[in-house]
Amino acid sequence: MLVLGIDTSCDDTSIAVYDASNNRVLSNVVSSQYDFHREFGGVVPEIAARKHAENVDLVFEEALRVAGVSPKELGLIAATNRPGLLPALLVGLTFAKGLAYGLSLPFKAVHHIEAHIFSPFIGSEPPFPFLALVVSGGHTLIVLVEGLGRYKLLGKTLDDAVGEAYDKTAKLLGLGYPGGPVIDKIYCSFKGEFLELPRPKVQGLNYSFSGIKTAVRRLAEKGYPKEQIAASFQKTAVSYLLSKLKRAVRETGVKRVAVSGGVSANSLLRQELSKTGWEVYLPPLEFTSDNGAMVAYTGYRRYLLEGEDSLEVGASARAPLG
Ligand code: KG4
Ligand code: ZN
Repeated sequence: MLVLGIDTSCDDTSIAVYDASNNRVLSNVVSSQYDFHREFGGVVPEIAARKHAENVDLVFEEALRVAGVSPKELGLIAATNRPGLLPALLVGLTFAKGLAYGLSLPFKAVHHIEAHIFSPFIGSEPPFPFLALVVSGGHTLIVLVEGLGRYKLLGKTLDDAVGEAYDKTAKLLGLGYPGGPVIDKIYCSFKGEFLELPRPKVQGLNYSFSGIKTAVRRLAEKGYPKEQIAASFQKTAVSYLLSKLKRAVRETGVKRVAVSGGVSANSLLRQELSKTGWEVYLPPLEFTSDNGAMVAYTGYRRYLLEGEDSLEVGASARAPLG
């Protein structure tokens, strides 16, 4: 069965064609809106929605063209309907419903974080149980995944997501948007001494990133070079992410770990994970940030488990996992 996966939850219009019979992604087209949000240093929901509406047709046609399939060959339409920026989500969801209705195909609504969780396993089968660390622009959480739809939330950020902290740090230092890739690059070529940044003290497996942001501002005001601040920020953020993940492994005894979301592209995070001795799963770089492939893959598995969804299903900005 060929599955179309659509994600417009944030600032990427992404559509993929996934061949479920062979567990292969035939196309994964992403139209990124960075240029339109850059001057604001973050995503503006109304601009995101307008750009999705302008692009969704073109991205759909391109996804079919690259995959070499016609709409008639599709067997399932999956789209992210939660959580995310509401006006942005609605564009992809409405487009998906229109296709499903017009082509008389089953439709499946997908949870965005669940799709990230399964993104390291696209092309293979997820080995349960595993610990998932989702690190993106909107989310930072640790989940024990016992099966599809069987989740125990172990910890989450109490304020900013780690990707958001990257973006805000970059904005503060005047490094551009999105902050993650720029700061990662600076870190890789930085040869100087690292500055001490405070590690937020939050109970259990929860995170907090808002304090790091204040520390960054203070260092910038003191006149430290922005490269030194940016590199030090990355060192602290990654070691903080890992410290809680190590604790989660210790507490659950589960040494199989899947890390996903935009920040899972980070080179230091990947390097440090490779030293842990755990069974580590990471998505290929093209599936770290928002993409239609993870939506198609997860939507297909959900469809097998529980069947199709009604076309009356709505979008929600917030939605607990599971
Ligand atoms: O998963 P994603 O595309 O969107 C959300 O669902 O939020 O994640 C985007 C986030 C941005 O905050 C971006 O700065 C961050 O991922 N990011 C990175 C890297 N590449 C992207 N953060 C750290 N290092 C990177 N190499
Ligand atoms: Zn995402």
